[in-house]
Amino acid sequence: RFSVAMQRYTDPNTEKEEPWEEHQIRKATLKFGSKNKRRESDDYQFVFEDHIDFIKAFVMDGDKSDFEEEIALEKSRVKRSVLEALQEERKKLPIYSFRDELLQAVHDHPVLVIVGETGSGKTTQIPQYLHEAGYTKHGRMIACTQPRRVAAISVASRVSQEMGVKLGHEVGYSIRFEDCTSKKTILKYMTDGMLLREFLVQPQLESYSVVMVDEAHERTLSTDILFGLVKDLAPARPDLKVLISSATLDAEKFSNYFDLAPIFKIPGRRYPVEIHFTKAPEANYLDAAIVTTLQIHATQPPGDILVFLTGQEEIETVEEILKHRMRGFGTKIADLIICPIYANLPTELQAKIFEPTPEGARKVVLATNIAETSLTIDGIKYVIDPGFCKMKCYNPRTGMESLLVSPISKAAAKQRAGRSGRTSYGKCFRLYTAYSFLNDLEDNTAPEIQRTNLGNVVLTLSCLGIENEKLFQFEFMDPPPVEAITKAVELLYAQNALNVGGKLTKVGRRMAEFPLDPMLSKMIVASEKYKCSDEVISIAAMLSVGNSIFYRPKDKQVHADNARMNFHTGNGGDHIAHLNVYNSWKESNYSTRWCYENYIQVRSMKRARDIRNQLAGLLERVEIELTSNSNDLDAIKKSIISGFFPHSARMQKNGSYRMVKNLQTVYVHPSSGLTKVLPRLVLYNELVLTTKEYMRQVTEIKPEWLLEIAPHFYNPKHFEELSSKKTQWM
Ligand code: CDP
Ligand code: MG
Repeated sequence: RFSVAMQRYTDPNTEKEEPWEEHQIRKATLKFGSKNKRRESDDYQFVFEDHIDFIKAFVMDGDKSDFEEEIALEKSRVKRSVLEALQEERKKLPIYSFRDELLQAVHDHPVLVIVGETGSGKTTQIPQYLHEAGYTKHGRMIACTQPRRVAAISVASRVSQEMGVKLGHEVGYSIRFEDCTSKKTILKYMTDGMLLREFLVQPQLESYSVVMVDEAHERTLSTDILFGLVKDLAPARPDLKVLISSATLDAEKFSNYFDLAPIFKIPGRRYPVEIHFTKAPEANYLDAAIVTTLQIHATQPPGDILVFLTGQEEIETVEEILKHRMRGFGTKIADLIICPIYANLPTELQAKIFEPTPEGARKVVLATNIAETSLTIDGIKYVIDPGFCKMKCYNPRTGMESLLVSPISKAAAKQRAGRSGRTSYGKCFRLYTAYSFLNDLEDNTAPEIQRTNLGNVVLTLSCLGIENEKLFQFEFMDPPPVEAITKAVELLYAQNALNVGGKLTKVGRRMAEFPLDPMLSKMIVASEKYKCSDEVISIAAMLSVGNSIFYRPKDKQVHADNARMNFHTGNGGDHIAHLNVYNSWKESNYSTRWCYENYIQVRSMKRARDIRNQLAGLLERVEIELTSNSNDLDAIKKSIISGFFPHSARMQKNGSYRMVKNLQTVYVHPSSGLTKVLPRLVLYNELVLTTKEYMRQVTEIKPEWLLEIAPHFYNPKHFEELSSKKTQWM
């Protein structure tokens, strides 16, 4: 008979022999580090997979059932030791000593504002405490909202580990287009936008016993709307507990808004942080960030580095340059482990930032704002802060929205610096001058609601019966500009989502079912009329994936560009090219190889397929049939126009474009397939401001279509020149 405990293991390198069990323990220690520090949700399962191979190698003809039994035993043994270690870690968090006090406060008050330094344990512990205290009895759930998708996933995965359950069972997360929950779920981490959508399904949030609006200080659009909705809901749901948690001391404001709700403070541990400014302004902050990283690496004592950058492109550039320079050093310098983290980074790569740094090496985390408060990475001792972030800006007069790289606020700069002093004293290198900090930076960033397009908000609120004057009376913590609400109402009216009386129409109600910007949802709803819903949801899915469909390696740019142009058949434009990509991939039977051959990112395509499936499900819900009309490009374009008609621009003589309605000058983005064609009238998906204001995803359209589809928005005067034959364009 086979017995695992009697086996011995011989190390193939050293040829040393040891009892099997000892070997396992040693291996597990190597895997987890002595303090069980690894973060992946199914740690013990990974270790376990190795065990299976190992055991298989030994058991040539053992008894099968015995073998399984041993595996089960070993599995529970490893699981238990990981769990125990995690429970020990939980007790070390600052919040632990306030557990009972906190539970009492929650018991005593319907609304509680909780303030505690980042990393004190608010997000991971409070929902668990509440669960342990019985708030999840009778299958009711605790919701905890996060402004960012990555944070929702990462925190849910951590908590599932601490509770020793599988992610998606008792502990789950819900983000747009990805629902990782089940009937068993009692702790639900979700983006604030998803809880907002939950109001549409159950306006009284009956299935929740607690709503924790976390990271409240971020003041995202959805969080601000949630504030208003939960405040409104409180009297109708006396049994509901509302927690507003925040990392900054702006708690008075939250408390005042929620009728003087008590503030519960969790004292944090903080170590001093030494702040360095540059003597003169930096011409190029990316360069400066790279040089500073290498200097720290070469001269400073051990400790990891956190660099704040504005987005994926910057992060990838810096990663590439750092790798290149490190190769130049050869073995003269210790290893530098580069870990990027941003919202679109595939989940399986995100876990890497939490892995402990091996002895003798140093880790540098290249992060967006996400690491400012939502994620806590242990071991950071040095912070590099270039002083910028990407921010959405909206001009309610023109209705134009752009992402801009903008200076951060003083509050954000302080928060960033604080990330270095969590576990011991830290250093923060600000790549700007002290003068600039004092004189150029605003104290706080304006909340998103004051600098964004409110189309979605107005549509959602209308669905909840908050229409017309009620919209203007809605109790915002900081109200948006009145013009922004008016503009959104006007646009929804032009899209037939609201009627003359400002009431939601059937079209509007259908649009609200889609978790998309109203322009995209209108495009989908309109596809019913043009009998091309099949094509249009593919386009919507591709547009929702973002700009990561095409892959353009530096050394193969010409090949990649040629491959991309192959998808531009006829006069389709970028939208139709996206459709062609999707359909060709489908024809290849969703082949990965096909993606490689065509310079397409397979990961993005898989995501598009996922989103497309969900959109197909939603079509069914709003009772729109899935019909294909692939040969009629005009029909497809008309559906697109039905949603995106405000985004039209006509060519001017010099190859630049001018928006038809507000006369702003814009250009075709170099990534578009239409840069050589430059049609007279185009429609675009979005604007990006880099060196110029660029239109991304551009398609040729006809003026008569705009007049036919959006008669409330355009009149023939807008197109007079276009139809006159005399005008010379090129
Ligand atoms: O919400 P708050 O910033 O107060 O803290 P938290 O997110 O609950 O984090 C508490 C601790 O859990 C952190 O110090 C991290 O060490 C750990 N944690 C982790 O290891 N992995 C995560 N994905 C999240 C938290
Ligand atoms: Mg948190």
